[in-house]
Amino acid sequence: MARIGYDDRTAAAFKAVRAVPRDGLAEWREAVRCHLRPSPGMTLADIGAGTGAFAASFSDWFGLGILAVEPSAAMRAQIPRRTGIQVLEGYADALPLPDDSADAAWLSTVIHHIRDLEAAAREIRRVLRPGSPVLIRQVFPGRASRIELVRWFPETARTIDTYPSVEQACQAFAAAGFRQEALEPVPQTDQASLAELLAQADTFRHADTTMRDLTEEEFFRGKERLRRAIQHAEEPASPETRTSWLDLLVLR
Ligand SMILES: C[S@@+](CC[C@H](N)C(=O)[O-])C[C@H]1O[C@@H](n2cnc3c(N)ncnc32)[C@H](O)[C@@H]1O
Repeated sequence: MARIGYDDRTAAAFKAVRAVPRDGLAEWREAVRCHLRPSPGMTLADIGAGTGAFAASFSDWFGLGILAVEPSAAMRAQIPRRTGIQVLEGYADALPLPDDSADAAWLSTVIHHIRDLEAAAREIRRVLRPGSPVLIRQVFPGRASRIELVRWFPETARTIDTYPSVEQACQAFAAAGFRQEALEPVPQTDQASLAELLAQADTFRHADTTMRDLTEEEFFRGKERLRRAIQHAEEPASPETRTSWLDLLVLR
């Protein structure tokens, strides 16, 4: 069970506001390239693939074969169907993949939804060929101050504090034989204006686990902060204003 239900409405909201446009992901592309060292014929398991934004990006950027594993039918329905992307129903702790069938695993903002991270790590160990990396894109407790939504809606950090920490994630994967190779904050930038962010706030509230947990009062105060910033010369937003830094944790 994920922390929120990924039904049709959530899947549509997620696709509308959570998929960072490609031109804002240049630094993610380079960070992943550096640790993955992609080569023709490589297969990547995208676990908790969501609406397939990264599956499509990795297919286009690196020509990888993608195994997109996703438990929610509504999210799966949004994944682009095309050559090179195989869409599969499944959970991280029960992967519908044979032993030694992938050269890398990618988990983007997924591990806080996984009930038994150690069991998932064992499954990932089973499906990865020896020496393959696990790439985790995640917001970790205590490392979320440069997340844009936290800036405007600071109480979202309350939910992030309940997510697995870096240490907990590393421990779960260590039990399955993985060692931490890197932990680096990587920026992503949204080119849209703050006014657009404000206009999307209700959709974000539906699509984002941390926003869902806000009280009405906290949500209202956050929108007020955004309104004031828009009125007081921060509009159009500078790239720094619309930049979020998530972590890339690499284990091998
Ligand atoms: C925040 S979304 C991230 C989607 C995608 N990885 C991305 O970054 O755009 C989290 C996804 O994890 C999926 N999920 C929830 N529990 C899961 C589990 N136990 N195993 C695999 N995926 C899971 C959800 O259905 C949802 O699509």
